[in-house]
Amino acid sequence: MLDHGQAPPLPSPSAGPRNPLLRRKPVEQLVAEGGQGEGGSLRRSLTMWQLTMISIGATLGTGIFVVLGEAAPLAGPAVAISFVIAGLTALFSALSYAELAGSIPVAGSSYSYAYATMGELIAWICGWCLILEYGVSVAAVAVGWGEYLNELLDGTIGVTIPEAVSAPLGEGGFINLPALVVVLMAMVFLMGGAKESARINAIMVGVKIVTLLLFIGIGFLGIKAGNYTPLAPLGITGISAAAATLFFSYIGFDAASTAGEEAKNPKRDLPRAIMISLLIVTVLYVLVAVVAVGALPWQQFEGTEAALAQIMKDVTGQSFWGVVLAAGAVIAIASVVFAVLYGQSRILFAMSRDGLMPKVFAKVNPKTGAPRANVVIVSLFCGALAAFIPLGELADATSIGTLFAFALVNIAVIILRWKRPEMNRTFKVMLFPVTPILGFLFCAYLMYTMRAATWTVFGLWMAAGVVFYFLYGMRRSALASAQK
Ligand code: ALA
Repeated sequence: MLDHGQAPPLPSPSAGPRNPLLRRKPVEQLVAEGGQGEGGSLRRSLTMWQLTMISIGATLGTGIFVVLGEAAPLAGPAVAISFVIAGLTALFSALSYAELAGSIPVAGSSYSYAYATMGELIAWICGWCLILEYGVSVAAVAVGWGEYLNELLDGTIGVTIPEAVSAPLGEGGFINLPALVVVLMAMVFLMGGAKESARINAIMVGVKIVTLLLFIGIGFLGIKAGNYTPLAPLGITGISAAAATLFFSYIGFDAASTAGEEAKNPKRDLPRAIMISLLIVTVLYVLVAVVAVGALPWQQFEGTEAALAQIMKDVTGQSFWGVVLAAGAVIAIASVVFAVLYGQSRILFAMSRDGLMPKVFAKVNPKTGAPRANVVIVSLFCGALAAFIPLGELADATSIGTLFAFALVNIAVIILRWKRPEMNRTFKVMLFPVTPILGFLFCAYLMYTMRAATWTVFGLWMAAGVVFYFLYGMRRSALASAQK
């Protein structure tokens, strides 16, 4: 346990700017409040490996099992290079996350980093973007889960779930039951607290890694050298278009940073967990992509549903292996739902403790050390979103929201180095300030490449967030009360 009793004296909040939009929360205060909720505390039980598993859990899923199939026709065999480019974008921001997670190890992730460096309004906007990254993406990922579940049911018992109960209104049905079920299952598991959640998460992550290794091993036998030429039939444009699409598959590496208040040794372990998870995920993605386009001509990805399962079937000549892959994908995608819901609940926990979200989100069950009410509300909200709303553009807006939050994290690193050079940092980005500047530019560029419709949805989302802040958060902020 970290002994918060020995924290240095807290700077008075009233020493910060009185302008509500600019008031900042001192780093020491953020850290000292760590773990404290309404009526109980979160428990510090997570090891470095469990934190790594949380990040891998939140990252590895729909991107590799579904989106790879959409990106291969854009780039051709060079899709593996697109994975590297998307991974580089993630890497620069991951370095910034690692530095801040090691210096400010709290549950709010980038929202809290922004609160310490850029003031309350920007922090709020960042938190609002994280709801896109986490809450809305859970709903989108849950919808993708239903598709692989159907593939699995079809392959095993020859039955598929009827459209009426597997699609929302406006998309041919009236409720997406599988999506709702996977979110509710995750909710039940998350009620147990961080330790139990981490155990279940580790099992699911183990299954998905083994599934992908199996794919690499079997798919390797089906590689035909001719499938790699020409390497980039659609040129650099194709490679970068695929990289933008594939960025989605890296979203989630930051999830460990939401576990800052439940980690045993957050300052040491969070930076390591973020970097190790990104490394493992990138290596797996590139290997899977190289094998996939070697075994199936890139033109054939278009129109092939569940391409990885199809490759397994084709190479072995047995549908059994396709079913094994579909089963692995069902668990993989469920684990993304699980880990991302975990992250969302912890971010809202931090925002609520700061008074910017209703108090109920910071209530901790004294028996389990889990913010149970928070988990239930978040799950019901995400479950309803997945079940009844055709997500369409809103799902696309998750990437832009994530990129915005990442961009802010890169700026936060620079500000904190400049304002608090003496702070103890367990991890420092190399080549400062080049790396965070590059991180920021990569994020800005990928945002720039997004479609106009996505920008419109993002703009509307942000406008709603700003209105909510002025009507609610600005007055209820805990810092505002402290300054009175
Ligand atoms: N990166 C996550 C996935 O691919 C969102 O499912």
